[in-house]
Amino acid sequence: MKRSLSVPGIAYGGDYNPEQWPEDVWAEDMRLMREAGVTMVSVGIFSWALMEPSEGVYDFSRMDRILGLLHDNGIAADLATPTAAPPAWFFTAHPEALPVDGDGRTLSYGSRQTFCPSSPAYRTAALRITRALAERYADHPAVVMWHVHNEYGCHNAACYCDTSAAAFRNWLKGKYGNDLDALNHAWGTTFWSQWYYDWDEILPPRATGAVPNPTHQLDWRRFCSDELLSLYTAERDVLREAAPATPATTNFMVMHNFDALDYWRWAPELDLVSNDHYLRSTDPESEIDLALSGDLVRSLAGGPWLLMEHSTGAVNWQPVNRAKNPGELRRNALAHVARGADGIAYFQWRAAKAGAEQWHSAMLPHTGTDSRIWRDVVRLGADLRALAEVRGSTGTAEVAIVWDWDARWALELPSQPSEEVRYADLVRSWYEPLWRAGVAVDFVRPDQDLSPYRLVLAPTLYLVDEAGAANLTGFAARGGTLAVGFHSGMVDENCHVRLGGYPGAFREALGVRTDELFPLLPGESAGLSGGGTAVLWSERLRLSGAEPIASYTTGPLTGVPAVTRHTHGEGTAWYLATCPDPDTLAALLDRIRTEAGVQPVRATPERVEAALRRGPDADYLFLINHGDEDAQVPVATGATELLTGRPAEGGTVTVARGDVAVVREPR
Ligand code: GLA
Repeated sequence: MKRSLSVPGIAYGGDYNPEQWPEDVWAEDMRLMREAGVTMVSVGIFSWALMEPSEGVYDFSRMDRILGLLHDNGIAADLATPTAAPPAWFFTAHPEALPVDGDGRTLSYGSRQTFCPSSPAYRTAALRITRALAERYADHPAVVMWHVHNEYGCHNAACYCDTSAAAFRNWLKGKYGNDLDALNHAWGTTFWSQWYYDWDEILPPRATGAVPNPTHQLDWRRFCSDELLSLYTAERDVLREAAPATPATTNFMVMHNFDALDYWRWAPELDLVSNDHYLRSTDPESEIDLALSGDLVRSLAGGPWLLMEHSTGAVNWQPVNRAKNPGELRRNALAHVARGADGIAYFQWRAAKAGAEQWHSAMLPHTGTDSRIWRDVVRLGADLRALAEVRGSTGTAEVAIVWDWDARWALELPSQPSEEVRYADLVRSWYEPLWRAGVAVDFVRPDQDLSPYRLVLAPTLYLVDEAGAANLTGFAARGGTLAVGFHSGMVDENCHVRLGGYPGAFREALGVRTDELFPLLPGESAGLSGGGTAVLWSERLRLSGAEPIASYTTGPLTGVPAVTRHTHGEGTAWYLATCPDPDTLAALLDRIRTEAGVQPVRATPERVEAALRRGPDADYLFLINHGDEDAQVPVATGATELLTGRPAEGGTVTVARGDVAVVREPR
């Protein structure tokens, strides 16, 4: 059954926590929400202690009043199950449900998400409040969506207690078909006397004296993601039983350093994919991270998605929390829409006076309505109303970047050739020049159908199974262009090295064979023919069919190829056996995509981001000017700029510095 969001146009709102305020403030909330054009808010996310004051005793009176008020004001509710923050009474009754870290330390309650994901008591309590909530509000006219839990795994991605150990063993028994020998072989436990004779000997990878077994750690990451997913599906099923037509979501955290969950496995379980995204103050071009995240979320969703949280200004959880620059709030929100968001929401509606997030920005700041943030929030509401017709339109990418959580986890295990190699940084370094050039990008799993694409990039794919590797090399053999980054294809799904030369799974398709790795030290670089420099990685590569494109000009590998190109079947396979400096990488990727016949969605001046959403009769061209100069961009005849409602005259639109234009181009 298809369950979709009944809120029209681009939904607009945020987390609404009225329980933190006296009720006389609520009427003002309603008035201001209407002024800002808010259409949907998420409620009840952290309300467990107030809704269930003691076990099995419910007080829904406050939630009744909140939902009634929202409905009276024409604002839809994304009603949350409050299970991310169990009340104190739960932990005093069930201290065994508190999580234990890898050093054996039991954490205390008094914050949020301090529960063991495998705790039977937690599961029972979470499903009990979920059922009570679902039964009470299944038919409430304000409730248009279920917001299950909040950011699964944000604070408790792994628990190392004995209950978790038993759950891990069960998961392993399922995975290895109850065959302990199969596990021993997959984990390579003849090494360091790690052979297991009894399932009960297997523990979570708790703190130990030396490096733990890599496959053990990798299976643990997979288990932890699946264990939280099973909590999501259990709650979702209870909600579905009570309200079969209401869509369910949970807010993902597809952003820079969060890597706990394999969202390829999660996304198919959601009716609507939603995401939270926050900027890092230390990133001078955080709009690139935002776009990457948006493209990845759209790819996970297979179409439009919802931005469940971002911030109007500063957050409270970085070492230094900065406000946004002028115009940045609007650019950020509309950039998410450009990448496929059909809803824009913030954490949170009203800035808190008390509690751990009192210094977090909100739609309605501490100062009140006489503030820049409020004026921007009201303006954004009008912008989103003007973009209503964009809803449902999709992306148009001919380039796919391979993204895989297994590969990320495996690459970042200890005891690698270099601990300087970071998965997300590598992907970002390849994404960045494409973003600057205005090239549309999707993200794909290694084993996904690649036929919609001309060019597939695998910046980093240390681990890949046979099926994934065959899919990627087969794509090139059938005429596609494949570009692979260093240290890819090295190990199989069990983290076992592929023998016979590096980069294992790809060496035939790439026409190269490496026999020794020479990662570079921090601060070290090697010259490249053609004038660039290489950092991070080098390898003694020999050609076995490929042509050299660039070679090292300094250091122990002088004369050895660093970048190669190989004809593989009907197509082309490139190998970047090092990490070139940004300009050299940009020039290379430019050449690779031009040879593959990939065009940008629009040629734009520097620092003007271009993204396209394709509707049934029109394209929507988003132009976001992050630079200091006004820009002119060519558009199709008959085009209209939607934010101003003005026709684009003379075949161009002007995007003032810091501003945004959204152009409807008829097809
Ligand atoms: C996360 C949470 C919110 C809030 C914000 C603050 O995204 O989901 O409850 O804590 O962070 O940035």
